[in-house]
Amino acid sequence: MTADHHTHWETRYAEKPRIWSGRPNARLAEIVEPLTGSRALDLGCGEGGDAMWLAEHGWHVVAVDVSTTALARAAEDAAARGVLERIDFQQHDLTQTLPEGPFDLVSAHFLHTTLEMDRSAILRRAAATVAPGGTLLIVDHGGAPPWAPEEVQHHEFPAPDVVLAGLALDDTEWERVRVGTAQREVVGPEGQDATLDDNIIQLRRK
Ligand SMILES: C[S@@+](CC[C@H](N)C(=O)[O-])C[C@H]1O[C@@H](n2cnc3c(N)ncnc32)[C@H](O)[C@@H]1O
Repeated sequence: MTADHHTHWETRYAEKPRIWSGRPNARLAEIVEPLTGSRALDLGCGEGGDAMWLAEHGWHVVAVDVSTTALARAAEDAAARGVLERIDFQQHDLTQTLPEGPFDLVSAHFLHTTLEMDRSAILRRAAATVAPGGTLLIVDHGGAPPWAPEEVQHHEFPAPDVVLAGLALDDTEWERVRVGTAQREVVGPEGQDATLDDNIIQLRRK
């Protein structure tokens, strides 16, 4: 594991006892609900909201993050919700290592960092672990939430087509189920109303 990614995210998670809500991301629930499958990989699982939802919906999940703190919080909550035995929490710096497939679902939700990271390379390697008939789901922010810190406001969020092109996947192997941007109404941490853009890439391996 490289120290910089680990240290960066440990510092971020140390800011608060919990950073995320523990609820699944809206797009995950919406898109995965009708899918069938057995093994799922959650990349950059954070405090485990998506992994726990997947486990509660019958999936066996490998949930990966670089942060020791995030993984410990996720495992604690998964135990409290009675789904720990369905989730294999693994610590990886995804720039270095990735769990072995195959997976029926590989989900990367908001796998963003302000550190330099070859995300395309990670997502391309992750795509290779998707089983035939399986789904690759990438959901990115289309822009920074208004309450995000200054450094995130200047972060560049590439359009879904640009992200997809960066993966350089073989078109004959993948069906584009959904590639585009969708809006979502949210309430921010201080109760402020906002509209967020989600950049969604949903592909099915043929
Ligand atoms: C913006 S958070 C999103 C967390 C979660 N997916 C969610 O939607 O709530 C990004 C997550 O990616 C993880 N991450 C960032 N860089 C990573 C890396 N190189 N290897 C593994 N995880 C990483 C962070 O620790 C963090 O938990």
